[in-house]
Amino acid sequence: MISRFFLLFALLLSSFAQAESLEHAIMPGQLIQGHVKYEDKCESCHKRFDKAGQDKLCMDCHKDIGRDVKEKKGLHGRQLSTKACKECHTDHKGRAAKVVILDEKTFKHKEADFQ
Ligand code: HEC
Ligand code: HEC
Ligand code: HEC
Repeated sequence: MISRFFLLFALLLSSFAQAESLEHAIMPGQLIQGHVKYEDKCESCHKRFDKAGQDKLCMDCHKDIGRDVKEKKGLHGRQLSTKACKECHTDHKGRAAKVVILDEKTFKHKEADFQ
C-alpha cells in the first residue's frame, strides 16, 4: 500500500518536472537581462488564452508606466497608448537584446512632456 502511494508521488513529481522543462522548451529564447529572474515564471508575462491580457501583466510590475497610461501622461500615456507593449518591447531575443529603442524621427518630444 505504502509503496503504491510512493509510486504515485514519484510519478506526480516527475510530471511536474517535465511540465517545467516543457515550458522552457517552448520558450522562443532567453529573456532580457532585466527579466532574468522571471524566466521560470512564464505566467508573469503570459496569461493563458488571453494575449491581450499581457499589457496588464507588464504594468503590474512597471507601475510608473501604468500610471502614465492611466493618466494619459508622458510618452507611454499619449503617443503609445493604442499599441501593445510588445510591439515596441520585444523579448526572448537573448540577454543583451535592446528592447528600448528610441526612434528619433517618430518620437515627438512635445507629446512626451520633455519640453
Ligand atoms: C518578462 C516577460 C516574459 C516572461 C517572464 C516570459 N515571456 Fe514569453 N514573451 C514575452 C513577450 C514580450 C513576448 C512577445 C515577443 C514579440 O512578439 O516580439 C513573448 C512571446 C512568447 C512566445 C511567442 C508566442 C506569443 O505568445 O507571442 C512564446 C511561445 C513564449 N513567449 C513563451 C514563454 C515561456 C514558455 C515562458 C516561461 C518559460 C515565457 N514566455 C516567459 C515576455 C515574457
Ligand atoms: C515580475 C515583474 C516584471 C514583469 C511582469 C515585467 N517586467 Fe519589465 N522589468 C522588470 C524589472 C525588474 C526590470 C529591470 C529593472 C528596470 O529596468 O526597471 C525590467 C526591465 C524592463 C525594460 C527595460 C529594459 C532596458 O533595456 O532598460 C522594459 C522595456 C520592460 N521591462 C518591459 C516590459 C514589458 C513590455 C513587459 C510585459 C511583456 C514586462 N516588462 C514585464 C520587471 C518586470
Ligand atoms: C510605440 C512604442 C512603445 C510602446 C507601445 C510601449 N513603449 Fe515602453 N518605451 C518606449 C520608448 C521609446 C522608451 C524609451 C523612452 C522612455 O524611457 O520613456 C520606452 C521605455 C520603457 C521602459 C523603460 C524606461 C522606463 O521609463 O522605465 C519600460 C519599463 C517600458 N517602456 C515599458 C512599457 C510597457 C509596460 C508598455 C505597455 C503598457 C510599453 N512600454 C509600451 C516605447 C514604447
